[in-house]
Amino acid sequence: MAADADQQDDDLRIREITIDDFPVVFHIGEELFTSDYSPSMYRTWDEYEITTLYNSDSELCLVAEYRGLILGFALGTTVAKSNSAWKYGYLVWLGVKPGIQKGGVGSALFKEIKRRMREQGVRMIIIDTDADNVAGIRFFEKQGFGNPQQHVYMTLNLSRKSKRKRIKPI
Ligand SMILES: CC(C)(COP(=O)(O)OP(=O)(O)OC[C@H]1O[C@@H](n2cnc3c(N)ncnc32)[C@H](O)[C@@H]1OP(=O)(O)O)[C@@H](O)C(=O)NCCC(=O)NCCS
Repeated sequence: MAADADQQDDDLRIREITIDDFPVVFHIGEELFTSDYSPSMYRTWDEYEITTLYNSDSELCLVAEYRGLILGFALGTTVAKSNSAWKYGYLVWLGVKPGIQKGGVGSALFKEIKRRMREQGVRMIIIDTDADNVAGIRFFEKQGFGNPQQHVYMTLNLSRKSKRKRIKPI
């Protein structure tokens, strides 16, 4: 297990998540990752986001704790592609409690997850967020991210009957 984290000030501690933290992390995520945050179903926050990432990469599931209170979290994983020698880090969720944002907690979480990813051999970190998330994008730019690429999500509603053109008999 990787060593406990970097401490931004004496009382802010970045550490690995434990099962006891799951409910509070889940509820912070519920406050942040609403349908306004991401209208696309692709990014839906639910309890499986925490348990799945915890099962696969517990060392990359971190919380920020300040005097016993959980203020935010970072949940990530690593991805290796068969056609690439590089190992990628994917920061799936990063959230800081509303009300204490812009206080350096997100940066402290990111610094620690980046350190851990580097230690695991990651050469590039990937994030994705909605194009409207201006604050989030500014945050990631501040952390050194660049090269934004647009992506299109489309849907096909299978519950609607498709209108097929009738073939006219000759
Ligand atoms: C994105 C987020 C995690 C940042 O955490 P944070 O603790 O607020 O960030 P920090 O205080 O460490 O900010 C670091 C830098 O990011 C930028 N930034 C952060 N919040 C910003 C905002 N609302 N508007 C513009 N820039 C912002 C600033 O450049 C800031 O540096 P500065 O304080 O020197 O100006 C937090 O705002 C959040 O939880 N947002 C909602 C969820 C989300 O969008 N998550 C990311 C995608 S999963």
